[in-house]
Amino acid sequence: MNILLLGANGQLGRSFLEHGGLAARGHLTAASRDGTRTDGESAEVADLSRPDTLTTLLDRLRPDIIVNAAAYTAVDRAEQEEDLATRVNGEAVGVLGKWAAAHHALVIHYSTDYVFDGSAKAPYAVDAATAPLGAYGRSKLAGEQALKSSGAAHLLLRTAWVYAPHGHNFLRTMLRLGAEREELRVVADQQGAPTSTDTIVRATLAALDAWQSGNAEQRRAMTGTHHLVASGHTSWHGFASAIFQTAHERGLIARIPRVAAITTAEFPTPAQRPAWSVLDNTGFQQRFGYALPDWQAGLHEVIDTLSTQAR
Ligand SMILES: NC(=O)c1ccc[n+]([C@@H]2O[C@H](COP(=O)([O-])OP(=O)(O)OC[C@H]3O[C@@H](n4cnc5c(N)ncnc54)[C@H](OP(=O)(O)O)[C@@H]3O)[C@@H](O)[C@H]2O)c1
Repeated sequence: MNILLLGANGQLGRSFLEHGGLAARGHLTAASRDGTRTDGESAEVADLSRPDTLTTLLDRLRPDIIVNAAAYTAVDRAEQEEDLATRVNGEAVGVLGKWAAAHHALVIHYSTDYVFDGSAKAPYAVDAATAPLGAYGRSKLAGEQALKSSGAAHLLLRTAWVYAPHGHNFLRTMLRLGAEREELRVVADQQGAPTSTDTIVRATLAALDAWQSGNAEQRRAMTGTHHLVASGHTSWHGFASAIFQTAHERGLIARIPRVAAITTAEFPTPAQRPAWSVLDNTGFQQRFGYALPDWQAGLHEVIDTLSTQAR
């Protein structure tokens, strides 16, 4: 079985490679925007901002499974670069889908809580109405629609508040700023489920295994949108407080900074964020027979990894 991983150098792509679970399931080819890999291994070039180039690569590699961890993820910058974001997150996903449909391949693709406007009061169901607040959310929604209409077998996995021991994320920003400052001001009126990349990798592999062992009817039932997020929810303020508490307990930091709660209005950003980003993940758990752990479990693992690296 040929597996193609796109976005090898992103938070999620790196975690897939480090975990090794894709390589254990088939012949894995990793691809990145520029053909490099952070671990120095070689990779194919797959630039999703040039969707027309992807078919040649797919024809050569002939993947049975395409795992798309690549995305334009600069939420604020997307307000200025919506065309580029839409090419990468929308059009390119349509090209992957069309190729997969024609060659009976499976596409595993990731989307986001930002397809919702955040006005709900209860966890979003997979079929809840979408209404993105900004350009990034619109571009990711375009990708969802392109994949669905491509006719390809797919697992469209919406996730949220993604972080890892590596890469650009809220946890690493907090630890850096916390070491520099006595006090941090963190938004307390947005709710979501911080989801570690390792949580995503393990749950994706469980879904892939269920897919592989399923018959045609079971696969039809699995094709579609699923919410792959950690269980429970908190605010960015709650997440920041838990990061410092855990990091202190595990000896990663010597001092816990004060974490002041502020409102979204006090921290204006170019792109508006949903106030309520909580996705109902019960469908994923039932469909794939896989328990999604509480967000705190992922946090403990990531802090443990960072503590080990720091020793
Ligand atoms: N981060 C979050 O909080 C969050 C929340 C909800 C959903 N998601 C979704 O989860 C998935 C994984 O996100 P992540 O956090 O791992 O993102 P990430 O760390 O920003 O990684 C994205 C990767 O995509 C690559 N990329 C960007 N433009 C590209 C292009 N034109 N061609 C090829 N590759 C390109 C980047 O390449 P370079 O390394 O060359 O820049 C980067 O390696 C994405 O679908 C994202 O939309 C993320």
